[in-house]
Amino acid sequence: MRNCILVTGGAGFIGSNFVLFLLGDSDIAVLNLDKLTYAGNLHNLDSVKTDPRHQFVQGDICDRELVRSLFEAHQPRGIVHFAAESHVDRSILGPEEFIRTNISGTFALLEESRAYWEQLPETDKKKFRFLHVSTDEVYGSLQPNDPPFTEQNQYAPNSPYAASKAAADHLVRAYHHTYGLPTLASNCSNNYGPFQFPEKLIPLTILNARDRKPIPVYGDGKNVRDWLYVEDHCAALKTVLERGRPGETYNVGGSSEKTNVEVVTTICELVDEFLPDASARPRVELIKFVTDRPGHDRRYAMDANKLQSELGWKPRENFKSGLRKTVEWYLAHEQWLSTVSSGAYREWIEVQYSGR
Ligand code: NAD
Ligand code: TYD
Repeated sequence: MRNCILVTGGAGFIGSNFVLFLLGDSDIAVLNLDKLTYAGNLHNLDSVKTDPRHQFVQGDICDRELVRSLFEAHQPRGIVHFAAESHVDRSILGPEEFIRTNISGTFALLEESRAYWEQLPETDKKKFRFLHVSTDEVYGSLQPNDPPFTEQNQYAPNSPYAASKAAADHLVRAYHHTYGLPTLASNCSNNYGPFQFPEKLIPLTILNARDRKPIPVYGDGKNVRDWLYVEDHCAALKTVLERGRPGETYNVGGSSEKTNVEVVTTICELVDEFLPDASARPRVELIKFVTDRPGHDRRYAMDANKLQSELGWKPRENFKSGLRKTVEWYLAHEQWLSTVSSGAYREWIEVQYSGR
């Protein structure tokens, strides 16, 4: 085996942050397999364009022949699997692609990983890892006074997205239990930070605040998410990859629960601070309450004690510091934004928000 990790979905939001993190923090080579759907953007990886340790392959994780040929040619010592359809609202309007990529795609990767892993020499077999990157949404919704989710919580996914991720998690678990494949799984709360596609709450709000457009908040805005800065998630994943126990699942979170109204209000205040205009009204007045998302989960919160006590991970950013960095990043990266604000993105905004 080579000191190489196969990363799937490494041109997306978290995947590209992880590729940059790994290349900056280790001597590991990265083979990056990504289909480049609307959510994948090679500009996220501009800073490693000339790094010989990074190789990009455009392709589909469901293409088993391609995946097999990559295993054969590159002999990776592990795989970190991000590739997915990731947006709940899109899964409500069109669930099929979520079933294909998130379930069948994970199955294809597990099958090809197993075939590759089974023929490795014993010492390499012990070292190989399959790290599956999943979400807190598989656990369903918490009541206001419930304790945060632990790894023991029952799965109760509520959206097609969450159900497809839950199905993939179960397959990963079964491949360890049945075949002994050294799998690891992480379930993380909502991420934010650079390179997130602006269909998600935080970048959407930053851009609308900058441009003084209405900021859509679903329902009463009191839904709670547990926010984690993306680099802290990347550090958690590297820790799990290096030191996690095969067959185990690790919850990851920022212990940073906020209502959506708190999030968008803080962003408006930050944008007012960075782009002051004494003659204009405060941006918080742009908030517009719109029709709720069907089946909208009320509250997510993660208990990351297992990861903290067993593997020593803890987040470096708090919500205030991470959000400030994120707002600054978006306001400073006009060119990156122009690469994502394509016709396809504008079309999505039209479908999702008109008449809401
Ligand atoms: P994203 O939508 O930004 O990126 C997904 C990437 O996968 C894109 O680059 C896309 O081109 C690629 N992709 C999609 N289908 C593919 C296919 N069939 N074959 C190959 N590549 C394909 O997603 P993200 O927010 O970076 O999330 C990455 C992973 O982390 C997902 O598995 C998601 O479920 C999980 N996760 C996300 C969050 C979050 O807050 N964003 C939180 C917890 C877990
Ligand atoms: P989102 O970023 O889509 O992540 P997820 O649904 O996976 O948690 O949404 C975060 C929260 O923000 C969620 O409660 C839905 C809400 N939301 C809005 O209120 N308005 C919006 O325009 C979007 C995209 C999300």
